Amino acid sequence: MEFNFADRMSDLKGSAIREIFKVIAQPDIISFAGGVPSPDTYPVDALNEISQRLLVGNAAAYLNYGVTNGYPPLIEILKERLTKQGVVKDSDEMMITTGGQQGIDLAAKSILNKGDGLVCENPSFIGALNSFRTYEAELFGVTLQNDGLDVDEFKKTIKENKNIKIAYIIPTFQNPGGVTTSLEKRKKILEICKANGIIIIEDNPYGELRFKGEDVPTIKSLDTDGDTVIYVGSLSKVLSPGMRIGFVVANSKIIGKMEILKQVNDVHTNQFAQALAYEWLKNYDFEEHLEKARLLYKHKCELMLKTMDETFPEFVTYTRPEGGLFILCTINKEGIDSAEVVKACIDKKVAFVPGFTFMVDMTKTSNMFRLNYSTMSDEKIVEGIKILAGVLKTL
Ligand SMILES: Cc1ncc(COP(=O)(O)O)c(C=O)c1O
Repeated sequence: MEFNFADRMSDLKGSAIREIFKVIAQPDIISFAGGVPSPDTYPVDALNEISQRLLVGNAAAYLNYGVTNGYPPLIEILKERLTKQGVVKDSDEMMITTGGQQGIDLAAKSILNKGDGLVCENPSFIGALNSFRTYEAELFGVTLQNDGLDVDEFKKTIKENKNIKIAYIIPTFQNPGGVTTSLEKRKKILEICKANGIIIIEDNPYGELRFKGEDVPTIKSLDTDGDTVIYVGSLSKVLSPGMRIGFVVANSKIIGKMEILKQVNDVHTNQFAQALAYEWLKNYDFEEHLEKARLLYKHKCELMLKTMDETFPEFVTYTRPEGGLFILCTINKEGIDSAEVVKACIDKKVAFVPGFTFMVDMTKTSNMFRLNYSTMSDEKIVEGIKILAGVLKTL
């Protein structure tokens, strides 16, 4: 049968990362493709203890429907943490979402009409870009530099495109860039957006994973006298992605609209997972957990960078992250398509993600690729990087 799909599906391709996941399911693959925490950080014993306690204690409360905006104790405990970080203001509400992905999606859905403009870093997070594409937004990518997007280009893009309603920014340990937007640039981005009535979606799933350098205030916390920023966070990278717990903080009017959308989307986020997350945050040491994860990622990131420094050819440059999970590499040679490099490496059992998947215009080839360092053992990091270096040297 000839299926007559909606127009919005015509430009949508499945995430290449998900495609690569099919390859990396093979046991002998060295994968730098994912974007997940090290499985060694999952607090399995603690979650087992809490699960038993919840189910024996008052199972009906957690197996029943819950309220759309989230499990109230979880909202309270997260709000407390984010208030200390300056993210939550008096006029704000918080809603629990099914991962940060849903927060981004519902924020976009509540604001974007077909043909509205959205400006973002280029490259950017594919899950968000695909969400914006489903709302048939016009996407404008701004060059990503080592200290965040190019502010002059950002300003010019906004000046020339009056349809822009949203700026989607990942200022801390960007995906795929691994870079962090400087304080100066954060202030400028906020100022430009305020002056032009543009809402910022600040996506910050990696912010708690700093293993080097100084914290930079979130854009949300800099917005002391306005409601310009919708802040999206997640427990995926600091607890478990499979539990699907994210959260959004924004002006109560925005959260009110998003709540209506969530009702028709999934009613509420998994009640049992929310209760698990709450009990874990309340009864276990989140700081200690984060500190362990940070130390692990610092070690893995440094090992990967050291091996790259020793083996990569000079025409390949890369970012040096101070946190998060990714290093972005650029092949500085004419006519190189990083997708071809990925293919050649997959044949040698090493996987990572080609740059085109992160670009606003996915039809062009890219000379970039993203490496993740959080999940492989030290031995596999060294072995995989050496294999990749060997392929790069043949270019
Ligand atoms: C920048 C960014 N935002 C949001 C997400 C969504 O994560 P989740 O839906 O698991 O919270 C991811 C996941 O990779 C991400 O990299």
